[in-house]
Amino acid sequence: MIDYRDFDADLLSPLAEMAIAEGWDSFRNPGTAKKAFTSPGCIVVVAFEGDKPVGFIQMQTDLGIHAHISNILVLAACRGRGIGRRLVEFAFDRSGAKYVDLVSTEGSDDFYRAFEHQEFPGFRIYPRGKGQ
Ligand SMILES: CC(C)(COP(=O)(O)OP(=O)(O)OC[C@H]1O[C@@H](n2cnc3c(N)ncnc32)[C@H](O)[C@@H]1OP(=O)(O)O)[C@@H](O)C(=O)NCCC(=O)NCCS
Repeated sequence: MIDYRDFDADLLSPLAEMAIAEGWDSFRNPGTAKKAFTSPGCIVVVAFEGDKPVGFIQMQTDLGIHAHISNILVLAACRGRGIGRRLVEFAFDRSGAKYVDLVSTEGSDDFYRAFEHQEFPGFRIYPRGKGQ
């Protein structure tokens, strides 16, 4: 049975470790990770199996029109059980937004296509000279 709970400060390390294990190096700095999980307008919903966090979503919202998925991650051993879908649905319900935009990374397009959606080209903009 999976429970869905709000982020709290005790989850900072386990969620950052999950993200780092996925190769998301931006979460290596604890101060940066804390800001990412707790900044105003940020919704973080965490999926638990028993006491163990097995997934999370981080969504930004303007509370009225537009929300954005920054990150969503489910532990590899727990994928394909509907956890990712429920994380999106819980966060979207809380966002107050009319729609959610996101940049899809390799391999996750078909997950997002499982939702009612439209597809657009996506861009990620970096500071001058810091693009990848
Ligand atoms: C993407 C991710 C969050 C999906 O989580 P999940 O718990 O496995 O997804 P769900 O089981 O809730 O699947 C929801 C729907 O998407 C579909 N889906 C999920 N992953 C899929 C895939 N790789 N290919 C095809 N369909 C997929 C499911 O069939 C399901 O469809 P349904 O609800 O109509 O039955 C998970 O694979 C993950 O953490 N991946 C690594 C991190 C990542 O890529 N994050 C996204 C960055 S943009």
